[in-house]
Amino acid sequence: MATTTAPVQLDRNVTEFLRQPRKMLIGGKWVDAVSGKTFETCNPATGDALARVAEGDAADIDLAVKAARRAFEDGPWPNMSPAERCRLLWKLSDLMDQHKEEFAELETLDNGKPVFFSRIVDVPQAIEMFRYYSGWATKVEGTTVPISSPLGKFFAYTLREPVGVVGQIIPWNFPLIMASWKLAPALAAGCTVVLKPAEQTPLTALLLGELIMEAGFPDGVVNIVPGFGETAGAALAGHPDVDKIAFTGSTEVGKLIVKAATGNLKKVSLELGGKSPNIVFADADLSTAIPGSASAIFFNQGQCCTAGSRLFAHKSVFDKVIAGVADEARKFRIGPGIDPSTNQGPVVSKEQLDRICSYLESGKREGAKAVVGGNKILGNGYFVEPTVLVDVKPQMKVVREEIFGPVVTAIPFDDPEEIVKFANDTVYGLASAVWTRDISKAHKMAAKLRAGTVWINCYNVFDPALPFGGFKQSGWGREMGYDAIELYTEVKSVCAQL
Ligand code: NAI
Ligand code: MG
Repeated sequence: MATTTAPVQLDRNVTEFLRQPRKMLIGGKWVDAVSGKTFETCNPATGDALARVAEGDAADIDLAVKAARRAFEDGPWPNMSPAERCRLLWKLSDLMDQHKEEFAELETLDNGKPVFFSRIVDVPQAIEMFRYYSGWATKVEGTTVPISSPLGKFFAYTLREPVGVVGQIIPWNFPLIMASWKLAPALAAGCTVVLKPAEQTPLTALLLGELIMEAGFPDGVVNIVPGFGETAGAALAGHPDVDKIAFTGSTEVGKLIVKAATGNLKKVSLELGGKSPNIVFADADLSTAIPGSASAIFFNQGQCCTAGSRLFAHKSVFDKVIAGVADEARKFRIGPGIDPSTNQGPVVSKEQLDRICSYLESGKREGAKAVVGGNKILGNGYFVEPTVLVDVKPQMKVVREEIFGPVVTAIPFDDPEEIVKFANDTVYGLASAVWTRDISKAHKMAAKLRAGTVWINCYNVFDPALPFGGFKQSGWGREMGYDAIELYTEVKSVCAQL
């Protein structure tokens, strides 16, 4: 594994952005926390402090919810035409495009991910999300409904109305993309929002907030309150005047969100963890299945809810697939994400590094063997080797629990029927993939896998138009596509006697 070291000149606006303590956005104003507290975000490539950010808690969340409520009920937003909302969303996407290099560098400095990927994946996908949902703003329709009542003649129709004030809590693995998945459909639907970014990675959401104001969204339509989960996040999830909460993060916290939401029975959508099976059949084209399986687990340092963390390969190709994936891992240029030649960066935080390393230890204790990797990389940054574990058993922790790091467990299979049982033997059901040249087998597998997404001969292909979400403990509801418009709307039935 090579390491990269080249020094890098940052975009001038990024240097400027990091110099000032960042405030929070409430009611169209950039303000300090009520408590006056701030917290530090760090650069995971070095462990050094990166920026100071206002630390919101319950008091700030309350102000933000009040601002969002005012903006939902009064002022220009509720009377704005769908076409005007469409133009605002499109304008925001254009502004993001003008600031794409700042977004890419900030995302990389805050999260650690290679700037190469921030530039070609994170930033463009976030921009496309706003463009896609700008189109939906003018297409949220109801239906007319035939009424059979003997009581008379009626004309009945449905309206799809915004659900109201929405709280959105997002994680640190794709900070800008997660903000766009949440904000774009909610705004297209006419909701107002309080967004809480992850404490590890608040910076790109705050830059996005500046552009939201520049685009001309009315005050209070989008409020952004950085802070910690147990304080700001919990206050948002439990707030009695929030109509809906949308959460992406761990299954553990997802369950807390559900409990917190019971106070006022706010609507809840959840996008949670995964332990996704990636299945390579004997007849697969290995020239794509091998790099595809490597990228399925190693992309974003393995910090993907969809990570293909359980690799199943038919026993006739198992050795070849494992050797190939291990070779891909050895080729990575590991280093600070801000170096454009890096293709594996650090993981997001010391906590995440420690968590991954404790799984590596537990795997070793239980008898798993690392074909490649298996250790943390010494130094100040939070680096860990891409790892392929073999000799694993179905009951091992490394096979059952989400590691959220560049660690894949590889298991051979024989019988194509038995593989369905293996694949579905998990509390999760987020994603899955099959690699085969047999189209009939591919689609039969697609029908049998209990997961919200099945990729066939590809992995991690996302599109704003393609619904995404989980079966089982991977979540509730679907984001993206028209499904996300449904998440942020209520159906009203109107019935008139003629
Ligand atoms: P987390 O679930 O604690 O954090 C995600 C978001 O929830 C953050 O914004 C956090 O501030 C907020 N949060 C935390 N506790 C909260 C609470 N009690 N009430 C309301 N909001 C709260 O995830 P964490 O601790 O950063 O990572 C732990 C594990 O979670 C990872 O190792 C990974 O397995 C999983 N995870 C899954 C993600 C996904 O995309 N599905 C994303 C991030 C983490
Ligand atoms: Mg947590």
